Amino acid sequence: MLGIVGTGRIAAALVTGLCTSERPPAKVLVSPRNAETAAKLAKRHAMVSVAADNQAVVDGSEWVLLAVRPQVAREVVGALRFKPGQKVLSAIAPIADEWIDDAVKPGKLVARLLPLPPVEQRLGPIAFFPGDRDVEALLKPVGTTVPLGSKHELLVIWTLTTLIASYYGFVSHAVDWAARNDADPQAARTYMTSMLHALSTIAAAPAAAPPAELAQHAQTKGGLNEQVARDLAAKGWFDAIGPTLDAVRRRLEGRG
Ligand SMILES: NC(=O)c1ccc[n+]([C@@H]2O[C@H](COP(=O)([O-])OP(=O)(O)OC[C@H]3O[C@@H](n4cnc5c(N)ncnc54)[C@H](OP(=O)(O)O)[C@@H]3O)[C@@H](O)[C@H]2O)c1
Repeated sequence: MLGIVGTGRIAAALVTGLCTSERPPAKVLVSPRNAETAAKLAKRHAMVSVAADNQAVVDGSEWVLLAVRPQVAREVVGALRFKPGQKVLSAIAPIADEWIDDAVKPGKLVARLLPLPPVEQRLGPIAFFPGDRDVEALLKPVGTTVPLGSKHELLVIWTLTTLIASYYGFVSHAVDWAARNDADPQAARTYMTSMLHALSTIAAAPAAAPPAELAQHAQTKGGLNEQVARDLAAKGWFDAIGPTLDAVRRRLEGRG
């Protein structure tokens, strides 16, 4: 039995991904808040039931996933009594969260996870630390598992997720430009997203060259790709990424 404390956006995505996967969990017990999300999940997936309260989730589960927001996490988790050896996972953003290890005793915080909403469609990465085998087996049906070597690394990878909105912004600007230049917006969108999907698929292959090398291969001397890469670099496009992510990381570390 997998129990979830904090039935919000990411919990709903993960539960739906798991329950619609080829290896669905036998039973999932979700906490009653948010009531609407919990009811929807229970209605949609036969193996999901809604517990009476957070403690009932812990009492009725072997694995417990903590998925409340950081602002309330200490109060919510601190009020729970865990079973000896109970396996606990935390999807809570790792902002000054060292207290969790003690708060779940005599249970054990087995791993901190970083799932993303596309797990609902069983797509995308799920990073986790430490790289526990049971955790990997649990998560494999819903995405690309990325075991990490340290909590620091998890925080650095968490920082990368803040590029999502800008990525869509980049796509949107390119497609809008095409539309302003009289391309059919739907055709431009299909072409752009399919192109990016293909490039990501190629870059994700285990034997693929590093991204910097792929970038070099994609441009010929004096060619149009080289022109755009040079032009965008001159406008500060690439140099802005490092300092921008530094600022996010400082914020995640509670220093910003
Ligand atoms: N969203 C993401 O992409 C993502 C990715 C990775 C990790 N995370 C982490 O996952 C956690 C949840 O994020 P989220 O985006 O899913 O937020 P969310 O949608 O706000 O979910 C949090 C849930 O916790 C519920 N809750 C509030 N107080 C509670 C309590 N006392 N007992 C039980 N449940 C309570 C909320 O209910 P109400 O709606 O009734 O307040 C809500 O359903 C955060 O720590 C976040 O950092 C999120």
